[in-house]
Amino acid sequence: MANPRPGLAILGAGIFVRTQYIPRLAEISDLFVLRAIWSRTEESAKGAVEIARKHFPDVECKWGEEGLDEIIRDNSIVGVGVVLAGQIQVEMSLKMLKAGKHVLQEKPAAASISEIETAISSYKNISTGSPSPSIWAVAENYRFEPAFVELKKLVGEIGTMMNVQLIVEGSMNSSNPYFSSSWRRNLGGGFILDMGVHYIAGLRMLVGCEVTSVSATTTHVDTSLPAPDNITSNFQLENGCSGVFVMVVSSKSPKILWRVVGLKGTVQLERGMQEGRHGYLATVYSDRGETRTIFYPFSGVTEELKAFFHDVSQASASQEGEPRLSYLEGARDVAVLEAMLESGAKDGALVPVKRF
Ligand SMILES: *[C@@H]1O[C@H](CO)[C@@H](O)[C@H](O)[C@H]1NC(C)=O
Ligand SMILES: *[C@@H]1O[C@H](CO)[C@@H](O)[C@H](O)[C@H]1NC(C)=O
Ligand SMILES: *[C@@H]1O[C@H](CO)[C@@H](O)[C@H](O)[C@H]1NC(C)=O
Repeated sequence: MANPRPGLAILGAGIFVRTQYIPRLAEISDLFVLRAIWSRTEESAKGAVEIARKHFPDVECKWGEEGLDEIIRDNSIVGVGVVLAGQIQVEMSLKMLKAGKHVLQEKPAAASISEIETAISSYKNISTGSPSPSIWAVAENYRFEPAFVELKKLVGEIGTMMNVQLIVEGSMNSSNPYFSSSWRRNLGGGFILDMGVHYIAGLRMLVGCEVTSVSATTTHVDTSLPAPDNITSNFQLENGCSGVFVMVVSSKSPKILWRVVGLKGTVQLERGMQEGRHGYLATVYSDRGETRTIFYPFSGVTEELKAFFHDVSQASASQEGEPRLSYLEGARDVAVLEAMLESGAKDGALVPVKRF
């Protein structure tokens, strides 16, 4: 007999919950029971619950301190999704872990390396002595995008890695729903940290090793955006290869591209569209001059949610969790960007990346 479906609560009712969590959860509603959506304010919680009720008629609306306590005391809720402002996510995740809930926290893992260090120490303290410690997962959908999973396998076939390029020209202008998001604007590093962790996660996954040191130039050009809005960085990989990371937060010519050049071929991933669907074009250039391109539509958010529910259902069996969800993986993405921002602030000084 299968375990009963785990009860889930979502803490947060912002744009990402309304436009991603609710519809993606609806696609896999056989894996869990959505018990509650919580927000600090009643108005915000109600707005999200109204959307969710189309798929989950029994979901309850919770808000404020009292609503949070009710979620904590409800033993039928075993997992929570923490989808809040980047500055308060860690505190909330730790509170839930302490209460014995499994946590899937949205990226970034934390707002800074120092916050990550305290968080890891607190988590260890909470887990120590517990026979089956609660899971603390970071939701980084890029690690679950089929395009990255598939292309990563082909990186092994291009021979010695010679160079890596990661070019991001974002479209964070006033038409973007996240443009006015105050917490994103107030996160140290402007939009570069919040958006950048995705691209670094993709980079680390494709190259299959860690970034060891960086040297970066940062500038602030577009004053409608928080500083900095441009970064150009050299980076050194553990495998001896070097590369460049360029990110323009708001460009008139959006482009997102990873390219890994090897002695025997090149692989490339580029954001694109096919038949009205958004996704990635994965291209392999072989040493015989052949080129093939495959389109992979987005499905990373759904895949990461599935992996979390799988881990939760296995948790009491003390199985190893999905490594792509681990808090440390999220911490490593933040560490690379923090090193780049620090280097930018020090006129391009070489900065080692903090290891976790
Ligand atoms: C974890 O426990 C150790 C030993 O008791 C303590 O020194 C440390 O400050 C604790 N960490 C946090 C973040 O509370
Ligand atoms: C924002 O960028 C998108 C994508 O490039 C573009 O379609 C849109 O017109 C831009 N909006 C503004 C206000 O510049
Ligand atoms: C920074 O990005 C802006 C667009 O946001 C671009 O016009 C400008 O040339 C860039 N500056 C540098 C120094 O890269």
